[in-house]
Amino acid sequence: MIVSTKLLFEHAYGKYAVGAYNINNAEQIMGLFRGCVESKAPFVVQISKGARSYTDKLLLEAMIRAADEIFPEAIFAVHLDHGDEETCMDCIASGFYSSVMIDASAEPFEKNVEITKRVVDAAHAKGIAVEAELGQLGGVEEHVSVSEADAKLTDPKEAIEFVRLTGCDSLACAIGTSHGAYKFTGTQGLHFEVVEEIARLLPRFPLVMHGSSSVPQDEVERINAAGGKLPGAKGVSEEDIAKASKMGVTKVNIDTDGRLVWCRVHREHFIEHPENFDLRPVGKVFMSEYSKYIQDKNKVLGSAGQLESVREFIKNAEV
Ligand code: G3H
Ligand code: 13P
Ligand code: ZN
Repeated sequence: MIVSTKLLFEHAYGKYAVGAYNINNAEQIMGLFRGCVESKAPFVVQISKGARSYTDKLLLEAMIRAADEIFPEAIFAVHLDHGDEETCMDCIASGFYSSVMIDASAEPFEKNVEITKRVVDAAHAKGIAVEAELGQLGGVEEHVSVSEADAKLTDPKEAIEFVRLTGCDSLACAIGTSHGAYKFTGTQGLHFEVVEEIARLLPRFPLVMHGSSSVPQDEVERINAAGGKLPGAKGVSEEDIAKASKMGVTKVNIDTDGRLVWCRVHREHFIEHPENFDLRPVGKVFMSEYSKYIQDKNKVLGSAGQLESVREFIKNAEV
């Protein structure tokens, strides 16, 4: 069942975070749905601009609709990840998305407000929620490159003003994470004081943590042992993810970890079975391994086991 991100966040706030997992193909969709249904967790299916053009946006949307039928017990929202204004407007017009993210965080504050507000007005007219971003994550984003040194944490005072001026429904905050597999080179960590202050100034307002892959070290070691070259890959610790999930972070974005599982499974499979050239045997292993990853991650986020409570909450909210 496709639901509003707003309701998912209301139910989660302060208790747990909903996993927002990026998908690009059928195998990821199957692994994700299986993992969430097995662990009885609500979730967000997240589609980037790149994912929409990898095969075709219509194919992705049709696969998600099909997964909804294959897994009737699943409760999830469909979300555009890191949209520009044009992509947001396209998703709003499609009527398929529960929410869109407008990422104008590379722009100066006033321009970010201006663009975000236009998207909010269009989205709200159709009952769609909007995630916006203030501050800049380190690492490389889809359309902007920010060096770690220049990364700009979200200013809590600016955050209240930004939410007031734009009317956005959730806020992606820069708190020390970055996208990709190389998040920390030294002893950097998350800035919980920033989360705490934003949550104090914007009580019960849903916050989003991007760049939240934990880059499991056993995955990295297995990839490297199977011929990969990922020296020094490092992610956010699961302790930090669990802590943020109880502090007002209601959505935790994960993409890189899924790619690592994919890479490890495929590298190992073809080394162990050099005679194989069929996509299905390895695809089956990936779906099963990705489902296991998702189940474990949902336990860390605290979303595992929340499915029936969310179902009840949504039923009552509809009355
Ligand atoms: O934050 C970006 C996401 O990881 C999406 O990555 O643009 O390569 O699909 P992508
Ligand atoms: P990771 O690169 O840490 O998986 O972050 C994904 C993300 O933030 C998608 O918006
Ligand atoms: Zn992101």
